[in-house]
Amino acid sequence: MTLTRRTLLASAMLLAFSATTFATSSAFAAKPLVMGFSQVGAESEWRTANTVSIKDAAKKDGVTLKFADAQQKQENQVKALRSFIAQKVDVIAFSPVVESGWDTVLREAKAAKIPVILTDRAVNVADKSLYVTFIGSDFVEEGRRAGQWLLEHAKKTPDATLNIVELQGTVGSAPAIDRKEGFQEVIGKNPKLKIIRSQTGDFTRAKGKEVMEAFLKAEGKKINVLYAHNDDMAIGAIQAIEEAGMKPGKDIIIISIDGVKGAFEAMIAGKLNVTVECSPLLGPQLMSIARDVVAGKPVPARITTVEGVFPAEVAAKEFPNRKY
Ligand code: AHR
Repeated sequence: MTLTRRTLLASAMLLAFSATTFATSSAFAAKPLVMGFSQVGAESEWRTANTVSIKDAAKKDGVTLKFADAQQKQENQVKALRSFIAQKVDVIAFSPVVESGWDTVLREAKAAKIPVILTDRAVNVADKSLYVTFIGSDFVEEGRRAGQWLLEHAKKTPDATLNIVELQGTVGSAPAIDRKEGFQEVIGKNPKLKIIRSQTGDFTRAKGKEVMEAFLKAEGKKINVLYAHNDDMAIGAIQAIEEAGMKPGKDIIIISIDGVKGAFEAMIAGKLNVTVECSPLLGPQLMSIARDVVAGKPVPARITTVEGVFPAEVAAKEFPNRKY
């Protein structure tokens, strides 16, 4: 064998060796992170956007997502969490339907050394080490913002008493508890603002309509303001108000939370007065935090989403910018 042929053969062998080494190490490095995600359900336009955000971000980030829809039932979420533990996923993320009753299953995840990330809704557990971090909105602040808008609006008619009906979110859920608290805290500053009825509409359009019908039947024209804990219930209530022969947004002032496209359409049509933003676009942040958590990097205990307030006057201008 000539020197040139021998050199060529050696280089080819070296190339083949490095190619194999590279393939092996890149296959190792590319081992996808496996996340179990338990979603509340599909109760609202907000929730649909949240699910899309999480699924899209997982795909883009190369995360293998095991997604389970709990259909608004805590027992389904507990089952999903136990199944993720049995499957030994790298990380569990979930949006808890209600705040309480999570201690046991979270202890099981901790015992299995699987980190848990809360998204959107918080849990009420004594041992905060049962989850690593929370990514989502400040629901109390959202309630305060809704109340603040009403406080300002009420200044236009300082002598009038404003009777408010409230459509609450799912009983026992963090957004229902916190949005009620924040709103009450602010409107409490004006004794002329009175909540005369308050009931759950479970965050859905259908229930929002049904409960508003009952409010109208009981109180009729006494109702001046509707405060809905989400846009979907407000949209359902708008239908009920129209069917009762009244003008939503005029005869009854309507305040809601989320800032979904449907709310902007209602504001442009003059049927909704204001929506307080609550962003469902948590997917990209969740994937990046999950990587850090699994890599053992320190992460903040709480990551709060930055949000705004959109009154009807800005709806047409803002509508093209809305992402959900
Ligand atoms: O937890 C967030 C709330 O849940 C949203 O405001 C509501 O639309 C959803 O169903």
